[in-house]
Amino acid sequence: MSAKLNPIVEFREDHRKIRDSLLSLASAAEARDVAKGRDILGQINVMVGPHFRYEEETLYPAMKEFLGDYADSLIKEHDVAIETAKTAARLLGQPSLTEEEGKDVAKAARALLVHVSNCDGLNILAERLSQEKLDGLGEHFAKSRAEGVPLLQWADTIRKAKS
Ligand SMILES: [Fe+2]
Repeated sequence: MSAKLNPIVEFREDHRKIRDSLLSLASAAEARDVAKGRDILGQINVMVGPHFRYEEETLYPAMKEFLGDYADSLIKEHDVAIETAKTAARLLGQPSLTEEEGKDVAKAARALLVHVSNCDGLNILAERLSQEKLDGLGEHFAKSRAEGVPLLQWADTIRKAKS
């Protein structure tokens, strides 16, 4: 039943997709294209949910081997990222965007982009994990994907229940 997934390769692959979506979101927001922005944010929400969940439930605890307590601050960065995503969702939930709101959504997309860039750096540490641990990571990553809970839904339910 254990799906063989390479956690390092798939982690980076997720980041590539999220990066491209966030760049498209920033462009759509600047063009004040609400329908497109909403569509892209919806895709990001679906992609990022299992990714964040895997990070918090599996990767960050594993990172304690290298980062010690600093790994806990990664969760706080997620708090900020989730709030940023909520702000973007709220703005894009409107029928149209003012110029300022368009800029705010673009700013949110870029803030999330910095998170993607920082997060990808964890791979350089993950490479030092034993094969056994990497196999465990791969299994949990696959499980999180299979469950497929979108970001904002996860944040308000499963994540909340754990904190
Ligand atoms: Fe990540």
